[in-house]
Order: sequence, then structure tokens, then C-alpha cells
Amino acid sequence: MRIKTFPLILLLSAAGGAADKDTCFECHTVMEGMSQVFQDDVHYHNQQSCASCHGGDSKEEDQNLSMSAGRGFKVRVTRAGVPDYCGRCHSDAAFMHKYNPRQRVDQVSLYRSSVHAVALAANSPHAPQCVDCHGIHTIRAVDDPVSPANPAHVVEMCAKCHAGTAEAFKKSPHGKVFAANGMSGCTTCHAGHATQPATSAMLSGAKASCSGCHAAGSAGARTAAELARLMSGLEAAAREANGSEAQLKTVRDNLAKARVAVHAVTVAAVKSPVDAGMAAAKQ
Ligand code: HEC
Ligand code: HEC
Ligand code: HEC
Ligand code: HEC
Ligand code: HEC
Ligand code: HEC
Ligand code: HEC
Repeated sequence: MRIKTFPLILLLSAAGGAADKDTCFECHTVMEGMSQVFQDDVHYHNQQSCASCHGGDSKEEDQNLSMSAGRGFKVRVTRAGVPDYCGRCHSDAAFMHKYNPRQRVDQVSLYRSSVHAVALAANSPHAPQCVDCHGIHTIRAVDDPVSPANPAHVVEMCAKCHAGTAEAFKKSPHGKVFAANGMSGCTTCHAGHATQPATSAMLSGAKASCSGCHAAGSAGARTAAELARLMSGLEAAAREANGSEAQLKTVRDNLAKARVAVHAVTVAAVKSPVDAGMAAAKQ
């Protein structure tokens, strides 16, 4: 017993964020070490411990009482319930600004407007919600270099589900330049929370993301214009095609390939799936 409790005491006295008595943290340290990783979580550093999220009584030693509904312990949250679970604090400006006066409180509302939230509402098992991107019990501030949301790691975060797109991006002229300048790879164009459906409208015209960095007439802008022409052509052909199921499938598959290839930002990478798709559409 001595061997087990001694390091625990050291660990608790070293932990700046904890309230004086935190039976949840203590018992879960001994039990499965969850508190060990949680010590590095941004919540623990801001006086939010286990009971802040899970409820229950963190002054009570008896686990049956500590984790009882009577003391406010909450049942497990479903995947679809997570955004509001986090939003209880993160959408509450008065609460959040006590800890960080400049913190934004619009993450849940932005997320609600996203293509990811639409997929979550449709019960897609792959739709990301807060903890799929930020983790659980290992959540870090964005400016922490090991946070998955740090600009240096966002490409890996998105690559968990969009692997082919991330590969194309990493090999593109943007891959190295964005990383070297501390620009976040994917969210620079797609936003972290309010991710919208992607179309060729992002390449040219009023909504284009390219024109924010590439002045009219530059090499980047000329490539963007050519990509827009190729992509909008195939988008229209896919909408209008009315042939056999096999033909439609070939058109759609090539459109999907071309949309991934856009991330290479070269005409050559996009032209071959677009040509194949256009040829199938004309059959
Ligand atoms: C004296 C030990 C003890 C204390 C105190 C304690 N727990 Fe637990 N907790 C456990 C055990 C044992 C389990 C069951 C573990 C398992 O099934 O893997 C558990 C399970 C949990 C679970 C998972 C529940 C589930 O449905 O899977 C959560 C969340 C949790 N505890 C949070 C807390 C919080 C918050 C507090 C403080 C309010 C707390 N615990 C206090 C021992 C404790
Ligand atoms: C910022 C909010 C937050 C804090 C703080 C937090 N948790 Fe959790 N915890 C979650 C979420 C979200 C889940 C996953 C959904 C669920 O099980 O309800 C979870 C899941 C768990 C589980 C089930 C794990 C599993 O693998 O199935 C346990 C046990 C648990 N937490 C214990 C703790 C303990 C102990 C602490 C403090 C050391 C703690 N939590 C702090 C949000 C939090
Ligand atoms: C698809 C991945 C993803 C999802 C889902 C996600 N986040 Fe984020 N989050 C990020 C990224 C990336 C950043 C870093 C800023 C950026 O690049 O936009 C971030 C930043 C944050 C920040 C720091 C402040 C800010 O707004 O930049 C908070 C707080 C946060 N997220 C909370 C949440 C909550 C709460 C949810 C659920 C409603 C959520 N996030 C869902 C990826 C995600
Ligand atoms: C009990 C209140 C509470 C809950 C619930 C909560 N948080 Fe937090 N969160 C905070 C506080 C307080 C901070 C620290 C202040 C800050 O950094 O803005 C914080 C900080 C963060 C940060 C770091 C923001 C930054 O500065 O870069 C992220 C990311 C984050 N939380 C995500 C989540 C996610 C995901 C959930 C749901 C699983 C969640 N939080 C649930 C209170 C909460
Ligand atoms: C856990 C898996 C997962 C993660 C992580 C993830 N996504 Fe997604 N993403 C999805 C799913 C599921 C869809 C909806 C696909 C659909 O409707 O066909 C989607 C859709 C999208 C779309 C719209 C695609 C379209 O066809 O219009 C974009 C853009 C996008 N995600 C960008 C991102 C970015 C940027 C990140 C990282 C910040 C990210 N995703 C992280 C699963 C994920
Ligand atoms: C320079 C801006 C830019 C960057 C950076 C960027 N995208 Fe895109 N993304 C686009 C454009 C433009 C489209 C739409 C192409 C079309 O449909 O014509 C798109 C389409 C998508 C799609 C739908 C097609 C597909 O690839 O499945 C997803 C998902 C996506 N992006 C995710 C990501 C991820 C993940 C990253 C980071 C690895 C990323 N994007 C980086 C501009 C960008
Ligand atoms: C956040 C700024 C940013 C955005 C948005 C952006 N780019 Fe770039 N792009 C760069 C930078 C920086 C370089 C490297 C330029 C250099 O080294 O001179 C680059 C390079 C390129 C190049 C290689 C040719 C050149 O100019 O060096 C092409 C092509 C390109 N971008 C196309 C695009 C397209 C298409 C989009 C929209 C989908 C886009 N870019 C969006 C910043 C951006």
C-alpha cells in the first residue's frame, strides 16, 4: 500500500490546478491511471476536474455515493450529445471569460453550421464531433505544440478521415510553405468548426479562398482559374449526365478523384480525372 500511495501524494501536491480534495481524481489515479494523463489536460490547469464534466461529489470517499445520481453524477453522454456537453461551458461567455477573457464562445454554433454536424445528425459513425478532434482527458490549448489542433498538427487531425486529400496536400507547393509559416494546413481554407460543403466556388469568384493569397494575374491565380474551369465543367456534366448506372458511376468516381486532386494545386493532377469523367459523360 505504501508503495502505491507515496507517489500519489507527490503527484497531488505537484498538481497546481486541483482543488484541495478531489476524490474522483485520487481514486481514478490508483485505479486505471486516467488522472495521470489528465494532469496535462488544459481543463485540469484551469481548475476543471473530473466532476466539472461528469458531475458527482468530489469530496466524498465512498465511490457509490461519490458517483451517484443523487450527488449529480451524469450518465454517459452519447456521441451526438457531446457538442452540447462541451457547450455547457464553452458557449457560456460569463463562465469562460473568468478563465480566459479573450476566449471565443462560438465553437458550438459554428460547429452546428458545419457539414460534420449534418453528418453527425444523420448518425454517420465517422462524423467528427468535439472529442474526435480534440481528444478526451488529453485536451490541450491550441497554442500547446502537442495539441492536435495546433497548426503544426491539423493536417494529421483531418487525415484520420481524409487521408487521400491530406497526402495530395502534403505533396503540393502548399504543403511545405504552410508548415514553414505556421499556417494550419486544412482549416486555412475549410475552417476548423464551420466546415462547409466544398465546391468549385472555392476556386474562383466571390467566395474563392485562393484569391485571399494569390493576387490577380499571379501564377497561383492563373492555376486557380484553370482548376475552376475544369472542376465546374465536370460538376455540370455530372449533374446533367443521364446515361446508364455504370456511366454515371464512372463520372461520379472521376469527380471524386478530381476533387481530391485539387489539393495538389496543379492543372496536370486535376486534368486527367476531369478528362476521364468528361469522356464518360459524353458517351
Ligand atoms: C473510491 C473510488 C472511486 C471514486 C471516489 C470515484 N470513482 Fe469513478 N469509478 C470508480 C470505479 C471502480 C469505476 C468503474 C470502473 C470500470 O467499470 O472500469 C468508476 C467509473 C467511473 C466512470 C465511468 C462510468 C461509466 O459509465 O463507464 C466515470 C465517468 C467516473 N468513474 C468518474 C468519476 C467522478 C467524476 C468521480 C468523482 C465525483 C468519481 N468517478 C469518483 C471508482 C471511483
Ligand atoms: C472536459 C470534460 C471532461 C473532464 C474534465 C473529464 N472527463 Fe471523463 N469523459 C469525458 C467525455 C466527453 C467522455 C466520453 C463520453 C462519456 O463516456 O460520457 C469521458 C469518459 C470517461 C470515462 C469512460 C472512459 C472509457 O474509456 O470508456 C471515465 C472512466 C472518465 N471519463 C473518468 C474521468 C476522470 C476520472 C476524470 C478526472 C481525472 C475525467 N473523466 C475528467 C469528459 C471529461
Ligand atoms: C473537425 C475537427 C474539430 C471539431 C469537430 C471540433 N474542433 Fe475545436 N478546434 C479544431 C481546430 C483545428 C482548432 C484550432 C483553430 C482552427 O484551426 O480553427 C480548434 C479550436 C478550438 C478551441 C480554441 C478556440 C477556438 O475557437 O479556436 C476550442 C475551445 C474548441 N476548438 C472547442 C471545440 C468544441 C467545444 C467542439 C465541439 C462543439 C469542437 N471544438 C469541435 C478542430 C475541431
Ligand atoms: C465545466 C466546464 C467545461 C466543460 C464541460 C468543457 N470545457 Fe473546455 N475549457 C474549459 C475551461 C475553463 C478552459 C480554459 C480556458 C481557456 O483556455 O479558454 C477550457 C479550455 C478548452 C480548450 C483549450 C482552448 C484554448 O485556449 O486553446 C479546448 C480545446 C477545450 N476546452 C475543449 C473542450 C471539449 C472538447 C469539451 C467537451 C468534451 C470541453 N472543452 C468541455 C471549461 C470546460
Ligand atoms: C472522424 C472523421 C473526420 C475527421 C477527423 C474530419 N472529417 Fe471532414 N468529414 C467527415 C465526414 C463523415 C464528412 C461528410 C462526408 C459526406 O457528407 O460525404 C466530412 C466532410 C468534410 C468536408 C466536405 C466535403 C464535401 O464533399 O463537400 C470537408 C471540406 C471536410 N470534411 C474537411 C475536414 C477538415 C478540414 C478536417 C480537419 C480539421 C476534417 N474534415 C476532419 C469526417 C471527418
Ligand atoms: C488552398 C485551399 C485548400 C486547402 C489548404 C485545403 N483544401 Fe480541401 N478543398 C479545397 C477546394 C477548393 C475544394 C473543392 C474542390 C472542388 O470540388 O472543386 C476542396 C475540397 C475538399 C474536400 C472534398 C473533396 C475531397 O477531397 O474529398 C475535402 C474532404 C477537403 N477539401 C478536405 C481538406 C483537408 C483534410 C485539407 C488538409 C489536408 C484540405 N482540404 C486543404 C481547398 C483547400
Ligand atoms: C493562406 C494563403 C494561401 C491560400 C489561401 C492559397 N495559397 Fe497557393 N500558395 C500560397 C503560398 C505562400 C505559396 C508559395 C508561393 C511562393 O513560394 O512564392 C503558394 C503557391 C501556390 C502555387 C504554386 C505557384 C506559386 O505561386 O508559387 C499554386 C499553383 C497555388 N498556390 C494555387 C493555389 C490555389 C488554386 C488556391 C485555392 C484553392 C490557393 N493557392 C490558395 C498561399 C496560399
